[in-house]
Formats: sequence, structure tokens, C-alpha cells
Amino acid sequence: MQLHAKVIDPVKHRTDCLLVGCYQDGTLLQDADTVDRAGDGKVRALIKREKFQGKAGQTLLIHDPAGLKAERLLLVGLGKPESDGQVGPDNYRTALTKALAQLGSSACRDVTVAMSEIAVNGRDIEWCARQAAELLGAQLYCYSHTKSQKPETHFTPKSLTFTCLDKRQCASAQRGLEVGSAIAEGQNYARELGNLPGNICTPTYLANEAKRLARNQPKLSVKVLDEKQMKELGMGALLSVSAGSEQPAKLIVMEYKGAAKSQAPIALIGKGITFDTGGISLKPGAGMDEMKFDMCGAASVLGTAKTLLALQPALNVVMVVAASENMPNGRATKPGDVVTSMSGQTIEVLNTDAEGRLVLCDAITYTQQFKPKAMVDIATLTGACVIALGNHATGLYSNRQELADTLLKAGIDANDKAWQMPLWDEYQKQLDSNFADMANIGGREAGSVTAACFLSRYAKDTPWAHLDVAGTAWKSGGAKGATGRPVPLLVQYLLSQS
Ligand code: BES
Ligand code: MN
Ligand code: ZN
Repeated sequence: MQLHAKVIDPVKHRTDCLLVGCYQDGTLLQDADTVDRAGDGKVRALIKREKFQGKAGQTLLIHDPAGLKAERLLLVGLGKPESDGQVGPDNYRTALTKALAQLGSSACRDVTVAMSEIAVNGRDIEWCARQAAELLGAQLYCYSHTKSQKPETHFTPKSLTFTCLDKRQCASAQRGLEVGSAIAEGQNYARELGNLPGNICTPTYLANEAKRLARNQPKLSVKVLDEKQMKELGMGALLSVSAGSEQPAKLIVMEYKGAAKSQAPIALIGKGITFDTGGISLKPGAGMDEMKFDMCGAASVLGTAKTLLALQPALNVVMVVAASENMPNGRATKPGDVVTSMSGQTIEVLNTDAEGRLVLCDAITYTQQFKPKAMVDIATLTGACVIALGNHATGLYSNRQELADTLLKAGIDANDKAWQMPLWDEYQKQLDSNFADMANIGGREAGSVTAACFLSRYAKDTPWAHLDVAGTAWKSGGAKGATGRPVPLLVQYLLSQS
């Protein structure tokens, strides 16, 4: 998509759709006021006739607006201005989301967001422009891979223009548009991988996707370890998960090199269980289809890689995906089996459904060789996290408060929030085992915490954070589908480190 940050004359500007704003108190933003005057007060008259109140997200679409070169005028409500006359960030996002959704069924090929003097509380022009590109990008996603009738999408915008007051603002806004569109691209890619069924999106499929991403990309290299190589490295925990599956496990290692070799990388590690039946500790049948989403952590890592390639930041990033199915068969790991991880620590597998931590612990140990300055793992790890935080916040655990704070801030800035959970020593003893160094489950209580405690034993002294995205990576019910979270948080975090 073409992205333009420009100073325009809203009256003379040619566009399929001019998007202008109005507050709940009836005040029109400057560009809206200008187009109203150009059309002899037609906009204000329609506002009155349609009883348009300007509530955040309320829209009024006007075709062939009088006096303008634009084919459509889309007026959107921004809600009540905050005390200092600024728009709240949530109202601004709601307004853009609703306005762009309205265009979803239109034949618009280009959109112009004309709110030049918009001031969003606590945010700059770059952020404002970025939201427009991110939200428009999100509108473009539509799952169709396994539908025989491809949906006819009317809305295929080719360009987005974001208007500015002056040239100086344009540079910041342009950067915002590019970041926003790159995030949307990464997030949509993560959604697509998440939505693909388990019979298509296997560990091998994910490995091939990683290789495809790296094609003709000098800054990205990919290496895929097969089961034989993992066995040689002693990855007994990871291999105990794939033991019952016909699909071979893959360890996907991607290195994005955007900075000098001497710069320690940041590591992202994704849980890539392409289907989680629970194994011998078989899950109940209801809703089991949703366990195809158990690779959404891995999908967010691949999505982030895609965004990095679009933005090319000066940064080194190692991305590791531990990909496996979790299936029951005659060779499958059984409750009570003891396995040896790559770190040398032994694990009593009391429940084969606690498999995510088993693949991640070996991936974390493997990643230590890159001497990362920080490691962040992303995993749909526990149902307990969904009980604790629901679908709004990702669970965040870390052995360094500074890293936790940085990630929490990235989540707020990117509108992809996380909430910190405790990683106190008191919880560690729930993992005691009579037959191994640790058990892979810690009992019913604090299930999300004890899962994080388990991983902390492999991160050791490396600054590390764990994002439990079990509640945020996908939606259930009528809107069932992957969300692409936490790609925005991860990209925000990485950009803040470049
Ligand atoms: N992938 C699941 C976690 C999950 C469950 C995410 C439901 C989202 C919704 C994970 O592998 C799992 O099965 N965890 C178990 C752990 C338990 C056996 C200690 C769980 O949460 O029930
Ligand atoms: Mn499981
Ligand atoms: Zn799982």
C-alpha cells in the first residue's frame, strides 16, 4: 500500500474518501469545517438532520459531497474532548476503527485521513499516523486459505494519505505510517499462520515459512534443526513432546542481523505446538479444535520477523521457534516418564498436556549460546492465565524488573497490553518431584505462575521475560480467529531497543 503524509487542501484534494472529525460537543475539526464551508454548510445541515452526535466511533457517510473533489466524505465522531481539549487515545482509535470498518463494504481504493490539527492526549503525530496505517492494515485481513469460495472483498485500498499541518510534521507522520503498516503486515501474517488448520500448518510448514521469509533477505538467515540434530544436542524435553506424533519436530532458528556483530542480540522464543491434543493426558473433546492456535507464540515470532524485514532496524535479533505436535500414540511420553533436558536437568512428566514448557525449556537452553542481552519467550502456555487475566492482557513474568517495565510500557504504547504476574521463590517448591530434578506441573494453584517458574530454571541468569498469551492470541466464539497479538508489543519493544 502507498503511504503519504502530506499537507493538502481538503477542498481540492482528489480522493475516494475524505475522513474528517467532529467532537461530541458539535465542534468540527478544522478540515471538516473547511469542507462544510466549501459546500455552503451542507455538512452541518446533515449533522442536524441525521441527529449525528459525534460520539466516539459514530459515522456519517456522505456521497458526492457538495463543493469537494472527494467522492465521499466520511465524518467520524471523536467523543468528548478531554479537559485540555485533546482527544483521548482510546476515542481516537475507536473513531478510526469504526470509520475504516464502515469502508469495508465500499469500493474505495484510497483513503485520506484529514484531521490535520488532531491532538491526542499524551501521543505525538507519529503515533497518530501509525494508528491510521495499523488499523487500516488490520481491516485488510480476511481468512480464505481453506474456503472454496474466496470472499469478494470490495475494500482493497491502494493508498492511505494522512494529512499534516506543515512539512515539519510530515516526516514524523510518514515514519508513523510506515511503522503502522509494517506492524499490520506482521500481525496479519501471524493471524494467518494461527488460523491455518493443524493438518496444513505442521512443524514442517512453519519451518518452510521461515525459509520463505528469509529468501532474498540479506539480513535474515534461517537454520532448521531436525529431530536427529536435536537428539545430538540432548533436547530430551522437546523430543518427549513430539515422540507420539507422525509429524517430525523442528527447531527453527532465525537470525536478523541489522547491527554490528559486536552487539549482543535480543532473543525471541516462540511456542509452536501446531496441535495440542494433550498427548496421553488427553484433553476433553469440547473446543479441542482451538488447540490449533497453540502455535500462536511461534506465529507472533514469525510475524515480528516480517515486520523487522519491512523496517530494517539497526538491531540484532535471534528468533527461535520450537515446533511440534502433541499427540498420543504407542511411542508417546506417558505420565511419570522422566526425561533429560538439554540443560542436563531431569524432568518428571506428570502431565503430558503441560508440553509447552517442555519444548520451551530446551529452546531457551539452546538460545543461551547466542549470549543474548535479553530473552523473551511467547507462549499460549496455560489455561490458568486465561482465568487470571481473561482476553485483555497478556501475562508477563520476568527475572529482571527493568525488562518487565520496558515490556509493560511497550504494551501500553502499542495498545497491546501485558500485566505483570509474580515470579516469587515461594512458588518454586510446587515443582518438587520425588523422581527427578523437577516435575512439569505444579498443581492446581497458580498454574500460570508455576509454569513460568519452570521456565525460569532454564533462563537462569540471562535477563528473561515470559509472555503467556493463552488469553490474547486468539478469540473464541463467533469471531473465532487468531488476533496476531503480541506482534505490536514485540515490535514496539524491539524498536525501543534499536
Ligand atoms: N496449550 C495449553 C494451554 C491453553 C489451554 C491455552 C487452554 C489456552 C486455552 C497448554 O499446553 C496446556 O494444556 N496447559 C495445561 C497445563 C496443565 C496440564 C498444568 C492447562 O493449562 O490446562
Ligand atoms: Mn497442553
Ligand atoms: Zn499447549
